[in-house]
Amino acid sequence: MILVARPEVESLKAYKAPLEGRRGLLRLDFNENTMGPSPRVMAAIRAIPAEQYAIYPEYDGLRQAVVANLAGVGLSRPLQPDQIGLFNGADAAIHAIFHAYGDRGDTLLTTSPTFGYYTPCAQMQGMVIEALPYRLPDFAFPLEELRVAMQDSPRILLICNPNNPTGTRLAPELILELAASAPDTLVVVDELYEAFTGDSALPLVDFTATPNLLILRSLAKTAGLAGLRIGFVIGAEPVVDRLARVTGPYDINSFAVTAAHAALADQPYVDGYVAEVLRAREWLVQQLQAAGVRHHAAGGNYLLIWPERPAEEVDQKLRQEGILVRSMAGKPLIDGSLRVSLGTTEQMQRFLAAYLQAD
Ligand SMILES: Cc1ncc(COP(=O)(O)O)c(C=O)c1O
Repeated sequence: MILVARPEVESLKAYKAPLEGRRGLLRLDFNENTMGPSPRVMAAIRAIPAEQYAIYPEYDGLRQAVVANLAGVGLSRPLQPDQIGLFNGADAAIHAIFHAYGDRGDTLLTTSPTFGYYTPCAQMQGMVIEALPYRLPDFAFPLEELRVAMQDSPRILLICNPNNPTGTRLAPELILELAASAPDTLVVVDELYEAFTGDSALPLVDFTATPNLLILRSLAKTAGLAGLRIGFVIGAEPVVDRLARVTGPYDINSFAVTAAHAALADQPYVDGYVAEVLRAREWLVQQLQAAGVRHHAAGGNYLLIWPERPAEEVDQKLRQEGILVRSMAGKPLIDGSLRVSLGTTEQMQRFLAAYLQAD
């Protein structure tokens, strides 16, 4: 006998990503840091005494460390620790946002194609999804359409900036404008890849004046902690508090807390990695242009490539060479493309040589 769940859950499929068997390969499929974290993170984790395993984690110091780290970006108004929410990865923050704010019949306004986890989170709440397509041929942001849709004050607006997977960027000034235009809408900006564009809304926002804006960050992509699971929200204290109400009291484990402290304390390591990725992107784009390969590179540590041969075939051939990329099969507007994460120039050289053989 099947024990039936809520109707919204019954009509969902589990959100599965191709996570298995990736060790030892060149992983250009999840936009992770391809070099791993700062050596300081490794040292901090090794130094955790076994006694710590038996004790529930402490979080206040980490909120302060996030505030101290973000002070470096030149804020219009200093942040307070109660404006930082800590989560088991940005995904857990996204889940909490929908759990706290998304009710049956409410609208999620977002763009398409975008990061895949927003949709199931909206669906599990019974929300209606309005996804505005990016504009072809360059995947430009559908700003006019969005402005019109905002007139209906959707419950949640979710903008991935830069967007995964199209790399589309939206000026942070416009995001603030959108938030001001609809004070009853929770405007969530997923800034997981902002380090690669510098387009953050954070330096501009005063959460007292704009309490309906919420920013998402993670240490998965730039700091190399994807496996440890640690993400943040930054927002007005009342919003952060409501997310805490739907989050377990010890959801982030001690290893992630220790690693996050060490990663935040070594910003030069992250900055160095980001600079290397940007150099690698420039190199790869030049090579793709020279080789006449159709591609689209905008923001983020990834780009899209359209192979001449069927994308699945090229994907398989690359896999045989030990290189993983992500097929965008079935995604609106970009079906038939491959999303390739950017790593170091050396890694991109290896990728390009294999790709030109495979296609
Ligand atoms: C846009 C975006 N948001 C959120 C996430 C999830 O991040 P985390 O690993 O911190 O849960 C990802 C991961 O791919 C992403 O691309």
